[in-house]
Amino acid sequence: MSEHTASPTKRASESATEMIQAVLPNDANPLGFMLGGAVMHLIDIAGAITCLKHTRQRVVTAAVDGLQFLHPIRVGDLVILKARVTCTFTTSIEVEVQVFSEEALTGVRKLTCHAYLTFVAVDEQGNPVQVPPLLLETDEARCRAEEARARRGERLRAKQALLAREAEMLMPST
Ligand SMILES: CC(C)(COP(=O)(O)OP(=O)(O)OC[C@H]1O[C@@H](n2cnc3c(N)ncnc32)[C@H](O)[C@@H]1OP(=O)(O)O)[C@@H](O)C(=O)NCCC(=O)NCCS
Repeated sequence: MSEHTASPTKRASESATEMIQAVLPNDANPLGFMLGGAVMHLIDIAGAITCLKHTRQRVVTAAVDGLQFLHPIRVGDLVILKARVTCTFTTSIEVEVQVFSEEALTGVRKLTCHAYLTFVAVDEQGNPVQVPPLLLETDEARCRAEEARARRGERLRAKQALLAREAEMLMPST
């Protein structure tokens, strides 16, 4: 970790982000449904903006947990992303992103997707730097952070397994 002093504790409300976008044909498949990849792109952007606002540092995406798409988002709908920091660690942050579709003419909203992303704050050389701690003001926020700590453990185990697989794949065959 590089020698960087983190700023003071911050509230989740200071960085919470809402993004709204109209779904245009360019983002859709031939059925008129928004492409999964286009939704993933927006999730990454909403998460990164939230982290930027929390850290005021450069951030990179380290992990995205399993995504489920519950309902299609159609061309002409609005797509609404709500992102907030759930927990901070030393140089990494977990962000929760909820994705809603909204029928433009009726206002009917559906939760279409939900994601947890991990970002790492880095300096100009790409070395991880410390992030400001998150102020946990309510029991609900403390509970969310506790759950995030458990997810982090799972993620790091999955990363170790992937690194082991990579090492195995790159090993010269005898
Ligand atoms: C993310 C990255 C900066 C981590 O660098 P690293 O050398 O592995 O750094 P460390 O092992 O010291 O980890 C730094 C922090 O990231 C966390 N981290 C690293 N990989 C992680 C993962 N897969 N999931 C969750 N957290 C992760 C570590 O837990 C640590 O957090 P902490 O300081 O809060 O405890 C580096 O792997 C990287 O640059 N990856 C590519 C990022 C990128 O390009 N993303 C865009 C998509 S290609």
